[in-house]
Amino acid sequence: MSQLKTISHLDNIPSTPGKFKMDKSPYIHRLRWHSWLCRVGLWSVVFIGFILIFFLRSPPAPSAGDPARRILGNAVWGGPAWEKRVRSSARVRRNHGLSVLVTGAAGFVGTHVSTALKLRGDGVLGIDNFNDYYEVSLKRARQTLLDRSGVFVVEGDVNDSALLRKLFDVVPFTHVMHLAAQAGVRYAMQNPGSYVHSNIAGFVSLLEVCKSANPQPAIVWASSSSVYGLNSKVPFSEKDRTDQPASLYAATKKAGEEIAHTYNHIYGLSITGLRFFTVYGPWGRPDMAYFFFTKDILRGKSISIFEGPGHETVARDFTYIDDIVKGCVAALDTAGKSTGSGGKKKGSAPLRVFNLGNTSPVPVTELVSILERLLKVKAKRSMQKMPRNGDVMFTHANISLAQRELGYQPTTDLQTGLKKFVRWYLGYYSNSGKKRIG
Ligand SMILES: NC(=O)c1ccc[n+]([C@@H]2O[C@H](COP(=O)([O-])OP(=O)(O)OC[C@H]3O[C@@H](n4cnc5c(N)ncnc54)[C@H](O)[C@@H]3O)[C@@H](O)[C@H]2O)c1
Ligand SMILES: *[C@@H]1O[C@H](CO)[C@@H](O)[C@H](O)[C@H]1NC(C)=O
Ligand SMILES: *[C@@H]1O[C@H](CO)[C@@H](O)[C@H](O)[C@H]1NC(C)=O
Repeated sequence: MSQLKTISHLDNIPSTPGKFKMDKSPYIHRLRWHSWLCRVGLWSVVFIGFILIFFLRSPPAPSAGDPARRILGNAVWGGPAWEKRVRSSARVRRNHGLSVLVTGAAGFVGTHVSTALKLRGDGVLGIDNFNDYYEVSLKRARQTLLDRSGVFVVEGDVNDSALLRKLFDVVPFTHVMHLAAQAGVRYAMQNPGSYVHSNIAGFVSLLEVCKSANPQPAIVWASSSSVYGLNSKVPFSEKDRTDQPASLYAATKKAGEEIAHTYNHIYGLSITGLRFFTVYGPWGRPDMAYFFFTKDILRGKSISIFEGPGHETVARDFTYIDDIVKGCVAALDTAGKSTGSGGKKKGSAPLRVFNLGNTSPVPVTELVSILERLLKVKAKRSMQKMPRNGDVMFTHANISLAQRELGYQPTTDLQTGLKKFVRWYLGYYSNSGKKRIG
């Protein structure tokens, strides 16, 4: 705004020529005044031109009505130093390595996948909006971890297409690992809008930018086992029906699969959807049962265990994070190329969906027993009738397709995986909340 004030100040000058009277001859005075006026006029035009260029080139000012901007507060992006960081983080350091944009990089799965890719020499750039759905300090601690392995996480929203376009201008990503989402089944009843914002609008913005990029990247994204909804045929296979979602979360993931179909069909984008089955492990999500059960057992608080009408307990196909990471990386490595460029399709591209589970459902009562043994604390169990809030009774993955196409083979059982989780948990939350990282 200071530039605007300067312009009006300059504009005022010609209206007070008397101030500039320096010569006694009226003729010479008029001549000088005339040439002075020309110069001022010329320089004003140049100056206004510069200001126009400045405004046209800078990103649009954040509008107060945009929820994404409000979450972000005063986060800024752009500029030479920022671009240098982006490029350096995304630089490939091995032959035929990938250059991957990881969305939701400060999330649980995002952190692990980013680290794994970086470690083998791929270029990785993260983006995350650090929203406060669960403790932001945990996301920040993961960011510190990523920073140490050379992964820069840009603070931004996947629904911000200007930012995404900028990232693709700076780096020609070969792949996108899209993990940013509003997760959680029960929270959808409290904040349905956040699911539409991140899982629908955010996904569409991302696909729009990807389809226009030249070259187009291949996309691997996280769907969810929740798309099977009320399906009762076990184990869940990719071909089973997925048209009875039990929660808005599941419905947005199902919508994502249909949207993926459209972008593959119209624009030739290579898209792989991964249906994760209850992922757990170190640096996990505090809103998930294994995590808050651990917290509550340690505090001596009673924990609610849900059961069905015939006292059957809820069961989950718990999948350890390292197994999921292997599945994600294999999906990136086997993703065929997108065929289009600059928004035009040139041929058909792969569209794939895989279950990534562990193939052995465990009743939640058993999960609690394992935690009791590992924590050496008896849990206060409170058995409750399962409320109809979006959760399903059980999940069980058929992974034969991922085995065949991705070489996916989970190797960690719940006992082993929880042992690693508990070790991390105790370390992270020791010293009464003081964080120990790495
Ligand atoms: N963990 C599981 O058990 C599980 C199961 C099925 C599917 N998934 C899916 O896997 C993906 C990763 O899950 P997670 O467990 O790591 O969850 P997470 O919440 O830890 O990670 C998601 C990250 O995305 C970020 N994010 C959310 N909305 C965003 C937006 N609009 N723009 C930018 N960043 C945004 C969040 O800040 C968070 O850091 C999600 O798509 C989730 O739906 C997870
Ligand atoms: C996402 O971004 C679009 C385009 O910038 C905007 O119109 C829309 O309101 C945003 N959607 C949500 C749900 O935030
Ligand atoms: C698992 O899925 C495959 C298809 O990918 C199918 O051939 C097989 O019959 C399924 N197995 C079971 C036990 O349902």
